[in-house]
Amino acid sequence: MHPLFTLSLDLGPRGYEIVIGENLLGRVGSLVKPLAPGQQVAIVTSTTVAPLYLAPVATALGEAGFTVLPIILPDGEEYKEWPTLQMIFDALIENRFERSALLVALGGGVIGDMTGFAASAFMRGVPFVQIPTTLLAQVDASVGGKTGINHPLGKNLIGAFYQPRLVLIDVATLKTLPKREVLAGMAEVVKYGILRDADLFARIESNVEALLRVDPEVLIPIIRHCCAIKAEIVAADEREGGQRALLNLGHTFGHAVETVTRYKTFLHGEAVAIGMVLAADLSERCGIAPTATTQRVRALLERLGLPVQTPRLPVADYLDAMAHDKKVQDGRTRLILLEEIGRAVIRDTIDTKQVAATLTANMATK
Ligand code: NAD
Ligand code: GLY
Repeated sequence: MHPLFTLSLDLGPRGYEIVIGENLLGRVGSLVKPLAPGQQVAIVTSTTVAPLYLAPVATALGEAGFTVLPIILPDGEEYKEWPTLQMIFDALIENRFERSALLVALGGGVIGDMTGFAASAFMRGVPFVQIPTTLLAQVDASVGGKTGINHPLGKNLIGAFYQPRLVLIDVATLKTLPKREVLAGMAEVVKYGILRDADLFARIESNVEALLRVDPEVLIPIIRHCCAIKAEIVAADEREGGQRALLNLGHTFGHAVETVTRYKTFLHGEAVAIGMVLAADLSERCGIAPTATTQRVRALLERLGLPVQTPRLPVADYLDAMAHDKKVQDGRTRLILLEEIGRAVIRDTIDTKQVAATLTANMATK
């Protein structure tokens, strides 16, 4: 049997374990059993993930004595909205699910966010378990209890902080993940190194080829390291009153890139890669980070096959998008900048002229 690695997110009675390993979907029954208040389990998944992984998860839960209801949702960010959430509630209510039910999210961040939100509201709250099947969801979305859906006027505007009872990360599921999605997840992996841990950053630099092969020997300890950083930050600041905002490194610029390109050009992780280069450049430009920081960040992201140049569009459009970001507080855009690789800081006093200069300096030539 493959070894399991476990770490804890310490939130007192709402704390939970993050279990990481390879080929562990068949063990989900025994892992979930002690956490389930009753017999009913709904597996919420998507039309893409269901044919790949629903059967082993449903079988393992059935063998552990659960009554299993699969809920298969349409796939894609555009379905992270009220009518799809309603499909979860419809299925639970039509199948007479009770307060003792447990929900299992089997899929990427979209499924995890929606299932968590559904769990927070069904019968005023039932437990749920995350089984993330994208790299982005394994290192970020499944950990920390941010759940929710999009509104036509903005992303993730409706939701709840609601922690899972368990996060189960099986790296074998990444074998079927399209390469581009794997790389987008790598941007979030690099993010943890930049914001909190220079050694992790250096380890990623030394293992690019193995990471691109999705080699479990290298990937499992790195995923574990990322989850440990996130767990530590969330345990200290669950509701993002302070340091949890550091996890948004590259995201304010990244959201601006997504907005000006109308969400059509880049995956989220790709936009975050561009955003991290911009954050590093701005940090250097303002004299916060030493010179060559941006060069090192850019070089690693490029080796990982991620985009690093800002699309050539009017700077004013980027500034406008940044002004509308969710992270704006009292009219000031809060930016996550770097003092050095491994140490991020929150700043809300950066001159817009410097931001404009950073955008101009990093634009693609065409
Ligand atoms: P996603 O859930 O859309 O998954 C990407 C694609 O990969 C989908 O088509 C999905 O069906 C497919 N897929 C998933 N697992 C697969 C597998 N193993 N093999 C083959 N295909 C597979 O996208 P994502 O990048 O996982 O998550 C993005 C979402 O996560 C966004 O909605 C974002 O807002 C949210 N998010 C939430 C948090 C949080 O803290 N809650 C953090 C970051 C992102
Ligand atoms: N993805 C950022 C957070 O969980 O806070």
